[in-house]
Formats: sequence, C-alpha cells, structure tokens
Amino acid sequence: MASPIDESDHPEYTDWQEDSRSLFNMRAFIAIEFPQSVQQQLGNLAQKLRSSGLRGVRWVPPENIHLTLKFLGDIKTETVQQLTHHLPTIARVHPSFTLNLHGLGVFPGLRHPRVLWVGVQAPAALFDLQRDIESLAQRLGVPTETRPFTPHVTLGRMQTDFGPQDQALLEAQLQVSTSTFHASLPVKQVALFRSDLFPTGARYTLLFHADLSERVEN
Ligand code: 2AM
Repeated sequence: MASPIDESDHPEYTDWQEDSRSLFNMRAFIAIEFPQSVQQQLGNLAQKLRSSGLRGVRWVPPENIHLTLKFLGDIKTETVQQLTHHLPTIARVHPSFTLNLHGLGVFPGLRHPRVLWVGVQAPAALFDLQRDIESLAQRLGVPTETRPFTPHVTLGRMQTDFGPQDQALLEAQLQVSTSTFHASLPVKQVALFRSDLFPTGARYTLLFHADLSERVEN
C-alpha cells in the first residue's frame, strides 16, 4: 500500500524530516563509562565464550561496553541542555565508589535467555545515585522505568538463531566463567551518551561527564 506521502516524490519533505530529527531529538542514555582496560577484560571474556562454540549471540563490541544507569530514549535537545545543567549538580553530591564485576547470568532466565550479562557488586552509593538520576529524568519528562534497577553489564544479546545446542553450551559456560571472571573499577564520574543506531550496530558518542564527589564510599 502506498504511504500517504511518497517521500521519493518530495525530497524537501525528506530533508525537513531528517533535519528536524537531528536538531530536536536524539536517543540518549546515562551510564558509567568503563576504562579501556576493563572493556578489554570483558571483551576477552566474550571471546572465550565465543570460542567455546556459542553461536546466536550478538556480542557488544568492547568499546561499547558500559553500565547503564538510565535509558532516556528519544529526548529533545532542550532536555539535553537541562541535563547538562542538572546532572553535574546531582553527581557532585554522591560519593565515588568501586564497582566489582563478577558472575554471569541471563535475562529474563535460562529457559528463554535474551540478554547475557556480567553481574555488578556495588555499594549503596550506586543505588542512591541511580535513584536520584531516575527522579531527575522524571522531572524532565522522561518516562519512568517501572522495573527495579538491576545493575548489570550487557555482554551480548541472543539472536533468533540461538538454539538448544547454544543453550546447553551457555549453561556450562556460565558456571565456568562465573567462578573465574573478576574485574573492578573505580567510579568517579557519570556520563551522558548519544546513541545512533545503524544496521551494523549502535554507535555511542560521549556528550559529557559529570564528576562525583571526591569522597569515596565502599
Ligand atoms: P543494557 O543493555 O545495559 O541493559 C544504550 O542503548 C543502553 O540503554 C543499552 O546498553 C541498554 O542497557 C539500554 N537500553 C536500550 N534500549 C532500551 C530500552 N528500550 N529500554 C530500556 N533500556 C534500554
């Protein structure tokens, strides 16, 4: 069925659409950025799982690995400006802390795994920070997340061809890697990222960092 406006007949309409999208909206999220060394450790873990023969997983490229605090979705430039102002105010009253990465698991569960993650052991400071970020986002009109915050680091996402053989391999590998993988990182900042989706995957662009307090809580 033909669409009401055939964009190929209206190049100006297409241009206007693209301009308005890039000027007024962007897909964005607030996260903890990982140092390259930790991204590499997680990349090596993914590589180990891959070479065990696990198929049907779209692995997150190491440079994209992070800890999401708040997915904002499509937000207006105006909201980004408000975040530029308010996120540093919130960040600076929260202490710095250490994150320990340990243990592997899947969402929503082993029967129908969709997301493969590495677990996060974090002090109360992470949860306090995330709660304040969630309420800032709500004040700025961003839809509230109804699910409780479960800190995790996404390593890969299961594709439609993830089959029973992969399932069995995954279960075995989860046990091995859970007992052997450990990484830790100091967290001194939070970051706002822009996310652009391409057929080849997401491209994340750092927009700014907001410093946490120099006080350290563990
Ligand atoms: P997660 O995979 O770490 O849980 C950037 O896209 C990040 O935002 C992703 O790493 C993902 O977090 C989260 N995200 C992406 N789409 C989302 C959605 N529709 N709802 C909630 N979080 C989302």
